[in-house]
Amino acid sequence: METINWEALRAAAVEAAAKAYCPYSKLQVGSAAVCDDGRLVVGCNVENGSYGVTLCAECTMAGQLRLTGGGRFVAVACRSGQGELLMPCGRCRQLLYELGGPDCLVDTPRGIIPMREVLPDAFEL
Ligand code: THU
Repeated sequence: METINWEALRAAAVEAAAKAYCPYSKLQVGSAAVCDDGRLVVGCNVENGSYGVTLCAECTMAGQLRLTGGGRFVAVACRSGQGELLMPCGRCRQLLYELGGPDCLVDTPRGIIPMREVLPDAFEL
């Protein structure tokens, strides 16, 4: 597996955050992932007036993974539009776990760690 360019991945997440539709929270969220074939996919949050319907950045990125060729996430970074590190919410950790697996690397305040540590004892069918 190629070396991950984490600075480029973080920058891609910030760039994606600028595309967010977030009139309610005003929090722009972007996510970026390197896939197992080396391509980059990104996502941004898309809110809704029925708040619970809101799509997190990781959700739209999951759609991009599938729409642009499938495969698996191998490295993920999430950032606000201001460049702050944001952690995926609980639901999105489950989403990343399913599409990246336990070895998928995530940029966290504790450093770069695998999904198995971001979501211990994950639900798996
Ligand atoms: N949000 C994400 O995009 N990803 C997460 O993992 C957590 C939360 C978004 C949803 C909403 O638009 C905003 O952040 C505030 O909750």
